[in-house]
Amino acid sequence: MRTSTVVASLAAFFAGAVQAVTPAVTPQFEALFVGVLEIGDVGTINNTTFGSRLYAPITGGNLTDLVSGQLAGTVLAGSSDTGIISQSGIFFPDAVLSVRWEVDQQLAYLRAAGVGKIFVSDLAYVHLETESETYSALNSRFLLGNVTFLEGDQSHAVLTIFGAV
Ligand SMILES: *[C@@H]1O[C@H](CO)[C@@H](O)[C@H](O)[C@H]1NC(C)=O
Ligand SMILES: *[C@@H]1O[C@H](CO)[C@@H](O)[C@H](O)[C@H]1NC(C)=O
Ligand SMILES: *[C@@H]1O[C@H](CO)[C@@H](O)[C@H](O)[C@H]1NC(C)=O
Ligand SMILES: *[C@@H]1O[C@H](CO)[C@@H](O)[C@H](O)[C@H]1NC(C)=O
Repeated sequence: MRTSTVVASLAAFFAGAVQAVTPAVTPQFEALFVGVLEIGDVGTINNTTFGSRLYAPITGGNLTDLVSGQLAGTVLAGSSDTGIISQSGIFFPDAVLSVRWEVDQQLAYLRAAGVGKIFVSDLAYVHLETESETYSALNSRFLLGNVTFLEGDQSHAVLTIFGAV
């Protein structure tokens, strides 16, 4: 292809692309799981350059399948949130959860990073990895997690996991 032809076709491509720009469809979500997380003694590394780094051990919990209403999995001890409370007070959760599925006793690794208010509520993208046949479709699903603390109780939070539809 001669250079002038390439330039002409590129110009046509970009002209077409400009005309075709429309916003993507707004994502829709469905609630998949809900459960209670048990939070152990929280430690902080205060007043660093970034704010305060959290160490919040998650000592247990569970996830109920919202379709079946049955226990879907158990949150294993060793899970934790090591997010940061920024200098401005905004909380950026950064949590890793290990879950054992009830149906086949396989493991799932969940990593969540998002934004919110410490000990109130936050919303995070959830990356999930599992080899469970029952739940492996979640490996390629865009998931969100809402963590909401029970009022006046820093040791229990409700986790709801949503999947994009
Ligand atoms: C460290 O920061 C946490 C969270 O903001 C706060 O609750 C705690 O009192 C602080 N500790 C000290 C020693 O300032
Ligand atoms: C945080 O550290 C800075 C620098 O060391 C210091 O000037 C400031 O007083 C400290 N603030 C608190 C709340 O401890
Ligand atoms: C899930 O955990 C909560 C809090 O520990 C507990 O009250 C509830 O009974 C548990 N549910 C299941 C199905 O294990
Ligand atoms: C999480 O869910 C709770 C309860 O529905 C809601 O009040 C809160 O605003 C949600 N948090 C975020 C950050 O969306």
